[in-house]
Amino acid sequence: MLPLLHAMQEEAGHIDDAWVPAIARALNLSRADVHGVVTFYHDFRRVAPGRHVVKLCRAESCQARGAAAIEKAAAERLGVAMGATRADGQVALEPVYCLGLCAIGPNALVDGRPVARIDAAALERIALEVAA
Ligand code: FES
Repeated sequence: MLPLLHAMQEEAGHIDDAWVPAIARALNLSRADVHGVVTFYHDFRRVAPGRHVVKLCRAESCQARGAAAIEKAAAERLGVAMGATRADGQVALEPVYCLGLCAIGPNALVDGRPVARIDAAALERIALEVAA
């Protein structure tokens, strides 16, 4: 199921709830089985994301390096709350829990590209990048 869900999300950007019955039928599973997997893993989206996705690490090492302040500043600068997509659909701000770059945090993924040592200047570069 996981490779199929990843492929669908790669193609469509999310796994729509309306698709769950067809996925279940195709895999000979219950709708509850599919729903359980889609809702268990943070990386599966149930609604279409923004045109740009900024993921900020919330795990321990990044927290120790100031991630909470970066998250607050990012929400203000990007105009979107953590876990939401801005009303114009331009950018989504999402949490991620460790990118394996703990020694050079706080870290982010911007449209899948890792960005380390996020500070005010880096955040401004990200904001300009996702405005395009
Ligand atoms: S804790 Fe943030 S990258 Fe590991």
